Amino acid sequence: MALPDAADVQVEVARFEAELARAASPREAQAARDRFLGRRNSVVASWMQTIASAPPEQKKQIGRLANELKQAVEERWRRYAAGAEAAARPAGAVDVTLPGRARPLGHRHPLTVVRDQMEEIFSRMGFALVEGPEVEDEWHCFDALNMPAEHPARDMQDTLYLASPVAGDAGAPGDRRTLLRTHTSAMQIRYMLAHTPPIRIVVPGRVYRRDDLDLTHTPAFSQIEGLVVGEGISLADLKGTLAAFARDMFGTGSRLRLRPSFFPYTEPSAEVDISCWKCDGAGCAMCKRTGWIEILGCGMVHPAVFEAVGYDPERYTGFAWGIGIERVAILRYQVEDIRLFYENDLRFLEQFPH
Ligand code: DAH
Repeated sequence: MALPDAADVQVEVARFEAELARAASPREAQAARDRFLGRRNSVVASWMQTIASAPPEQKKQIGRLANELKQAVEERWRRYAAGAEAAARPAGAVDVTLPGRARPLGHRHPLTVVRDQMEEIFSRMGFALVEGPEVEDEWHCFDALNMPAEHPARDMQDTLYLASPVAGDAGAPGDRRTLLRTHTSAMQIRYMLAHTPPIRIVVPGRVYRRDDLDLTHTPAFSQIEGLVVGEGISLADLKGTLAAFARDMFGTGSRLRLRPSFFPYTEPSAEVDISCWKCDGAGCAMCKRTGWIEILGCGMVHPAVFEAVGYDPERYTGFAWGIGIERVAILRYQVEDIRLFYENDLRFLEQFPH
């Protein structure tokens, strides 16, 4: 065979196109393809073979031409096959060989993920999960928790009161103002009134405060309350329980620090810091260079609270805590604006592990 040159590429491609145009069936088209591209005895294969007998200085050029021809013929074949396939399909029919369009699946909200995780940890530790009403009255939310009438948190500026008062029910005086609960601590009272110790519960739920929206405040947010009551429960149990929680939630290296604080319903009261999970206590922007991050309030249940629910404070002791779910989520995911959690913008929500 004569050595091919550049013009031959055009000639062969034109010939291949003509053969395809003449093909009366897919089988004939396939045969034409094989005559040009097949492994043996095809046009491209014979061009490749001429390389062996070509003078050394021409080998490279012929190899290049053979490749050019191969690519041009393949390209024509692809176009032909796509067109033939489309022509064979009735107008408007679905091409079942195309990859499917994925249906967007919903997923849990980042706050739900955090809440589920906390609930999971406490239920593994033997806590029962209970929920209570968001519409509360001031006795359960304040009085029974040792917050007297003049306590500032009860102020109209801080608490969202509702129009209609409720009549008294078991263990509580009548004609109390109703309100949207300002903390899940109200459920401590409801639960203790309905049960006798030992008690080990966590109470997740939404709470409301008369706050304006800003980077760190929303009028509605969520907490998880914890309450343990029994005989011989001590501050060491409180610390051990929360330390175990912190290791599970924030990593095995987490350390806990209790800082004295004040809540009317606990004595002593403490605020709990955990060692910063980003810098492990060395000090970074996240923990404001302190190495510690405040995550919750807690304490030993105040005897006045036991008296309000008819428990003998000489016999029973207990501890309680309240932890903000948004706060943990904000710290965990380093979100700068709490409002993002409530705007339901998928571009934001999709960034979190679901
Ligand atoms: N109720 C408190 C709050 O909303 C949190 C809290 C602090 C709950 C101490 C408790 C506790 O049970 O013992 O900020």
